Amino acid sequence: MSTPALSQDELKTLVGQAALQYVVPGEVVGVGTGSTVNKFIDALASMKDQIKGAVSSSEASTQRLKALGIAVLQADEVPELSVYIDGADEIDHHGHMVKGGGAALTREKIVAAQSKRFVCIADESKWVEHLGAFPLPVEVIPMATARVIRQFAAMGGSAKVRQKDGQPLVTDNGQHIVDVIGLNITDPLAFENQVSQWPGVVTVGVFAHQKAQVCLLGTPTGVKTLVF
Ligand code: A5P
Repeated sequence: MSTPALSQDELKTLVGQAALQYVVPGEVVGVGTGSTVNKFIDALASMKDQIKGAVSSSEASTQRLKALGIAVLQADEVPELSVYIDGADEIDHHGHMVKGGGAALTREKIVAAQSKRFVCIADESKWVEHLGAFPLPVEVIPMATARVIRQFAAMGGSAKVRQKDGQPLVTDNGQHIVDVIGLNITDPLAFENQVSQWPGVVTVGVFAHQKAQVCLLGTPTGVKTLVF
């Protein structure tokens, strides 16, 4: 009898546990946001006495870390982190990612930028040839939203303001998110540079400058380690 295939949730658990090997004892670890990172946070509880604590990329991750007894430090209390562990909505074969499905992209990019190594944890549904199929999250200052939507339309994209309970979702930073479909992101670095310069854009969810150096990819045959 063949072994039943692992569910997406089980793959997330596997990569969350596998990420523990990248946590440096005695140091502070950078922690991302999302359902895959939640598995990592749960696993990290087993190492809580070996680390100084965590810098978190969202209120949701902060709450989960604290509930498990893991100290949370402010980003500006720690000059540099050895490693940042986070998920992705899409990751390509260069380690470029689309992130922000959980609306935490701005703080994620900040913590990634202060980390020497980004370890992405993802199930294999996130692995793509080219970025752009997942709706691209962009955090914007509300007064710029209509203009940013027009700018994406001029590029061939269709952008919508993300809603929660019938209202525009408000991020941890008090801003809105637009999700953009129909884009063809052939040059992620150039795309990130371009959109980041639009007035009112806080953060674009393409992570090409803050790309992953390692991806732990959950597959039916186990966790694959990809190094970029
Ligand atoms: C949060 O804003 C995102 O960047 C997440 O890292 C991304 O959406 C992956 O989330 P899941 O692990 O829940 O798929």
